[in-house]
Amino acid sequence: MTRHFTTTDSGAPVESDEHSLTVGPGGPILLQDSYLIEQMAQFNRERIPERQPHAKGSGAFGSFTVTGDVSAYTKASLFQPGATTDLAVRFSTVAGERGSPDTWRDPRGFAVKFYTDQGNYDMVGNNTPVFFVKDPMKFQHFIRSQKRRADNNLRDHDMQWDFWTLSPESAHQVTWLMGDRGIPRTWRHMNGYTSHTYMWINAQGEEFWVKYHFKTDQGMEFFTQHEADQMAAADTDYHTRDLFEHIRDGEYPSWTLYVQVMPYADAEDYRFNPFDLTKVWPHGDYPLQEVGRMTLDRNPTDNHTEIEQLAFQPNNFVPGIGPSPDRMLLARLFSYADAHRYRLGGNYQQIPVNAPVCPVHSYSKDGAMRVQKVSDPVYAPNSYGGPAADTSQHVPTWQADGAIMRSAYVDHAEDDDWGQAGTLVREVLDDAARERLVDNVVGHLLNAVSEPILERAFEYWKNIDKSIGDKIEAGVRAKASETDPKAAEQGNPARESMQRKA
Ligand code: NDP
Ligand code: HEM
Repeated sequence: MTRHFTTTDSGAPVESDEHSLTVGPGGPILLQDSYLIEQMAQFNRERIPERQPHAKGSGAFGSFTVTGDVSAYTKASLFQPGATTDLAVRFSTVAGERGSPDTWRDPRGFAVKFYTDQGNYDMVGNNTPVFFVKDPMKFQHFIRSQKRRADNNLRDHDMQWDFWTLSPESAHQVTWLMGDRGIPRTWRHMNGYTSHTYMWINAQGEEFWVKYHFKTDQGMEFFTQHEADQMAAADTDYHTRDLFEHIRDGEYPSWTLYVQVMPYADAEDYRFNPFDLTKVWPHGDYPLQEVGRMTLDRNPTDNHTEIEQLAFQPNNFVPGIGPSPDRMLLARLFSYADAHRYRLGGNYQQIPVNAPVCPVHSYSKDGAMRVQKVSDPVYAPNSYGGPAADTSQHVPTWQADGAIMRSAYVDHAEDDDWGQAGTLVREVLDDAARERLVDNVVGHLLNAVSEPILERAFEYWKNIDKSIGDKIEAGVRAKASETDPKAAEQGNPARESMQRKA
């Protein structure tokens, strides 16, 4: 390997990497030692704000190759038969900070940036098909309830269950989270979902509603709570390491993408609101159709520039793909670009990992850290041959009408919060999985949740499934009384300091 001489950031050779400039051997250091000052100044600016949620994560690069034929539903170039598109992926946990353990029980982010010839298309999903809330007004509160308290800066099961039990729409996602899939063994062994419903538009302008399912080709594997706890202590970065090492060793992970497609007109009178993020579309109603395969085969070489500065935004659509009336999704169309402008600066889309591979002809101009040149004319309309909008583009549309209001998201026959959570418990999980679910919930509630929240948690689970709720209550009462006989009567007394609010 060629060894280079050190230079300053402006490229000039450096005299010493070890000794500051001083007046004599014991004298003061000098302000004119610009190299020392550059070292200190750059160091002080190394950290950028971490992502608010999803701060801990890592990713890789690869490609997506179409294997099915969904051209009847979308004209998006990346989904046409035979197409291959380069992409970047970032996996993450939601609540933990940048250094937090990979194996905490939490949903996992599953974000994919497709560098298409029609612009970047970002699919910013999770490893779960549903979510905890269905109105964006509650998202910020939800995330705060999962992070840290104001007084002691500790995470707190009490506030998690307080929020969940006061938000019954969380039941499906919480059931999913407390089950086996709440702690994937590795990122390679989990699925990814858009969770939201999106719109696809075909070459004839016909519109469809779709949900994406990236199914792992490695098979689904999980950690039990005990295994995950052990791993959190043994290797905080286990999932990051696992992905990096497998790609480094040529064992490239892949996922097969399927979609569920709902004809546009079905949405109106489907039995529940198909845009409700707390619901799946049963496979029996809308079967999976194969689209293609995503393979990850290249590791980042610089985490900061390629992963930490990787900026996903659900509003990055390409022709043939658009949003749906899901109000969570519509809020996300604003939130992410706003987060990037704060975290990375206004010109974040010029950072190489975020830059599209197709030419950019926007009228954006100037600003801090802009590196791509602009040319005249700098306004539109103009008489000087500047870029002109393509009026043949079809903006995704749907019918919206009514008085302006703040409403609950309930207008279909089966819009209840408990039904699909109950189906998961009764019809998808087997006895062993149900037992692990009960153990996980009991462990989560025990010694951490105070009355009246504990009582509400029992009711919450009984609403999902009476038998599971009874077992959870019995499990908590029995375990609490093992440590303190009085506890069985009082609920859960082992938690005191955390309940005290200033
Ligand atoms: P199906 O029997 O067709 O599908 C059940 C699905 O459950 C499976 O395909 C699998 O999803 C998923 N699953 C299996 N084990 C677990 C687990 N431990 N935790 C979470 N999910 C698991 O029935 P329906 O489509 O009618 O759905 C029934 C219930 O299954 C739903 O209420 C929902 O809770 C759950 N589910 C449904 C999904 C859907 O899109 N329809 C997706 C995921 C879960 P996968 O094939 O994606 O691995
Ligand atoms: C990250 C907001 C719901 C998946 C983020 C970030 C914000 C945010 C601000 C940090 C972005 C950054 O700094 O780079 C919101 C809001 C939501 C919402 C306002 C609802 C109203 C969801 C849902 C999903 C999701 C429903 C999944 C279906 C992700 C993922 C990341 C993320 C995967 C990390 C992306 C990455 O790896 O950089 N979210 N979010 N979010 N969110 Fe959301």
